[in-house]
Amino acid sequence: MKKSSARRTRLYRPTERNLAFLARRLRAGELVGVPTETVYGLAGNALDEAACRQIFRVKGRPSNDPLIVHIHSLRQLTELCVANPAALRLAEAFWPGPLTMVLPKKAAIPDLVTAGKKSVAVRMPRHPAFRKLLRLAGIPLAAPSANPFGYISPTTAAHVADGLGGKVGHILDGGAARIGVESTIVDLRDPARPRLLRPGAVSAAEISQILRKPVISKRLLAAPGAQVAPGLLARHYSPRTPVILHDEITSTAASDEAFVFLRQPARHKGENVFWLDPRGKLRGVARRLFATLRDVDQRNFRRIHIERATGEGLADAINDRLRRAAAR
Ligand code: TXA
Ligand code: MG
Repeated sequence: MKKSSARRTRLYRPTERNLAFLARRLRAGELVGVPTETVYGLAGNALDEAACRQIFRVKGRPSNDPLIVHIHSLRQLTELCVANPAALRLAEAFWPGPLTMVLPKKAAIPDLVTAGKKSVAVRMPRHPAFRKLLRLAGIPLAAPSANPFGYISPTTAAHVADGLGGKVGHILDGGAARIGVESTIVDLRDPARPRLLRPGAVSAAEISQILRKPVISKRLLAAPGAQVAPGLLARHYSPRTPVILHDEITSTAASDEAFVFLRQPARHKGENVFWLDPRGKLRGVARRLFATLRDVDQRNFRRIHIERATGEGLADAINDRLRRAAAR
């Protein structure tokens, strides 16, 4: 944490007393950095336009990029949006958890939150401390990832303090995020045609199995002739150092460049060699991805080489973040 900001940004352990205090801060319209199972969020009262305006300002986020609203109960879901039976089935299967649903919004949600859209993105997170905070606050919380716009998402309270220290007064420290990549986003406005807007830990195959119909994925949307949703291909989650993707890294000879393997390599050693999971397991890769990118980004290498994941489900989510980190 920067010294100048250390005086103004406080980290809180999730004790009953701290959670009650932070819930009061949120109800009073202040922002709190919060842990979730995916990445840390920058939370504010979703029903309070001034608090939400503050979220955009602190993050440096363009006002045309809508926020996700986090809820504690299904009662809140029906207060905020029009939940169709497909949404309720997915909620039963995956909530609380890393799934966000886009549904027609109700008037309770300020237009600012949804960037003027008639739909709202809603998620019921699983992290126990965040769930307690949501219950104590008794209000839905709008929360984008707690990083300056465009930079790598935070997976620890220290990451939040690094990026937003001095700009946000309170950060709830709930430990390192268990999943490490942002939630899956599925567009359910038309329940007959569910669309995957962002891959995450809940896979398109799992959603499709619950709904008993195919989920239109980004890959299909990006097929020739298909319309690509705006923002899907944007550069995002990006280190300052240029990133280059590989199916397999074969040489680490360039000592001023970093090489990030999926698994600990047997043949490559050195200060420029990194890996995401000892055995290359996808859950470990996802969990360590953003923290590793941040760490390597701070070491002033000329370029960062990194291996793509193979497989489906979580591999799709990892490769999506890698593609955006590498986009120029
Ligand atoms: O795991 C997560 O989802 C994390 C944690 C904090 O919950 N949040 C997160 O929020 O990743 P954010 O703001 O970084 O990404 C939310 C994405 C944005 O790209 C936005 O475009 C999309 O959700 N989104 C929000 N509302 C939408 C809507 N009504 N229609 C389509 N996309 C929407
Ligand atoms: Mg984000």
